[in-house]
Amino acid sequence: MQTIHTIQKLRLAVQKARTEGKSIGFVPTMGAFHQGHLSLIQRCKKDHGLCVVSIFVNPTQFGPKEDYRNYPRDKRRDCRMAAAAGADVVFYPSVEEMYPFGCCSLVDVPDVTKTLCGKSRPHHFRGVATVVAKLFLIVNPDQAYFGQKDYQQTVVIQKMARDLNFPVKIRVIATVREPDGLAMSSRNIYLTPQERSEATVLFASLQAAKRSVGKGEKDPKAIKALIRSMIIRTSGRIDYIECADAQTLRPVPRLEGRCVIALAVFFGKARLIDNIILQI
Ligand code: PAF
Repeated sequence: MQTIHTIQKLRLAVQKARTEGKSIGFVPTMGAFHQGHLSLIQRCKKDHGLCVVSIFVNPTQFGPKEDYRNYPRDKRRDCRMAAAAGADVVFYPSVEEMYPFGCCSLVDVPDVTKTLCGKSRPHHFRGVATVVAKLFLIVNPDQAYFGQKDYQQTVVIQKMARDLNFPVKIRVIATVREPDGLAMSSRNIYLTPQERSEATVLFASLQAAKRSVGKGEKDPKAIKALIRSMIIRTSGRIDYIECADAQTLRPVPRLEGRCVIALAVFFGKARLIDNIILQI
């Protein structure tokens, strides 16, 4: 596996693979790998001749009070894990390489960035869309792989790719969970043992919501109340619980069609998100 730090060298590596007739798969990440990332890399390698993984903790998607400085970074461990999962190239640019002095153009995707996480993280998705657009232009992949845990991110990127005619297919891969249901996340390391055990309520409450919808409950207020009633028995502080249209991400007055039930809850320092998609 090659580790490449510059845009120029990355472009050359991709061009070489193309001339060899290989298709290009791409997994953008911020490192701190867990099984969720590895499943994206494994899937990408299965589908493509060249699997490119980027590792870049993107400053523009963090708010001023968020964990940019403390975000877990371990280059050697991540590169080792990426190689074992099948990556051919790790692109590991510096902040200066991605955002040289004076770089100020931004990619804004309205509407779908304003709901759910966008309410409490106002500039987050602009940072995500900007860096992913830059990475798409650098890597020029045929397909790019994202995890369903960050469901809103997948909707934003799909919309951006469509609106701006990026010739890339977005693949959304199922959330990987711990045996007790907690969605794998790089931020789970912030949890104390007590918080870690309480955080299982997130998936448990989503499952309870799914069962309730299955029994005929279609009122989002009742579903949200059910989820809330479970979470407030723990130390979790609810940021939001929402029932939204799976495509527009607008809150729905009634659960029907393709919907997402999404939530964000703080346990101590960690803001955890999770969701389920329902076809009703
Ligand atoms: O999901 C992530 O890790 C990041 O938001 C992404 C897509 C790599 C952009 O920085």
